[in-house]
Amino acid sequence: MSSLQGELQPSAPEKLVLRGVGKGFPTQEGTVRALDRIDLQVAEGEFVVIVGPSGCGKSTLLSLVAGLDRADEGEILADGVPVTGPGRDRMIMFQEAALFPWRDALGNVEFGLELKPGLDRRARAEVAAFFLRLVGLERFRHSWVHELSGGMKQRVALARSLAANPRVLLMDEPFAALDAMTREQLYGDLERIWSERRKTILFVTHNVREAVCLADRVLLMTPHPGRVQEGFPIDLPRPRDINSPELAARAGAITRALRTALEPATRDGMP
Ligand SMILES: Nc1ncnc2c1ncn2[C@@H]1O[C@H](COP(=O)(O)OP(=O)(O)OP(=O)(O)O)[C@@H](O)[C@H]1O
Ligand SMILES: [Mg+2]
Repeated sequence: MSSLQGELQPSAPEKLVLRGVGKGFPTQEGTVRALDRIDLQVAEGEFVVIVGPSGCGKSTLLSLVAGLDRADEGEILADGVPVTGPGRDRMIMFQEAALFPWRDALGNVEFGLELKPGLDRRARAEVAAFFLRLVGLERFRHSWVHELSGGMKQRVALARSLAANPRVLLMDEPFAALDAMTREQLYGDLERIWSERRKTILFVTHNVREAVCLADRVLLMTPHPGRVQEGFPIDLPRPRDINSPELAARAGAITRALRTALEPATRDGMP
């Protein structure tokens, strides 16, 4: 490496770096550019939320960072190392809780620990119980999945993701199916866990208020081709109230930016 290149390397690499990332999917009508020239840096401990309309490439972006799929162009680095597949440092959480119905709540959380060497059965149960307590579900540790509400299932999924202790949490609309009250409770849980355990979070949502409630920085994506249009730092004090006028004002500004960005597409006949 030349000294010039050496100087250009940041001394503490960003947690996640995407450079010129592109991804296309072949379809009957030709290739869909799901992602186009995505440049993105996420700092250690940062909470970044991506918002954008359906089809703008949010899930594609998360699955590339998770290593579940490969980019066509560009590179993705986690801790300065190219992502070539899934890793325990990056845990993805989907919209559906995807729990194992043949295990109870505790057993589901333990699953995240079974891949870890050096933990015996008892230690696993203790760690899993700790994380169930963290999401307020200690009392339900022996409940079966079908006995849990949707919100409780999401909490178990969150505990399972956290128990595996990934440094990076990738969350794809994890709360979209929940009622507003449960969601608001989970915002608080997630914010507390994020700040106490210093996770780096890349979170995807359709909901602009949810984005402003959680994020250090909101990224606005636009579709076809999927691009990061604009970034909005959110410096509101935490914990935040999703119903506060300050938060609503920030969300309003982002929604207006989204409308403006989509205007040419609207003129071209999009609804
Ligand atoms: N496996 C695939 N095959 C073909 N096209 C795909 C595939 N996956 C995604 N796409 C296309 O890529 C684009 C981005 O899809 P993606 O699922 O990333 O969007 P999204 O922003 O997550 O949308 P939503 O908010 O609806 O979840 C869309 O046009 C979609 O049709
Ligand atoms: Mg999606």
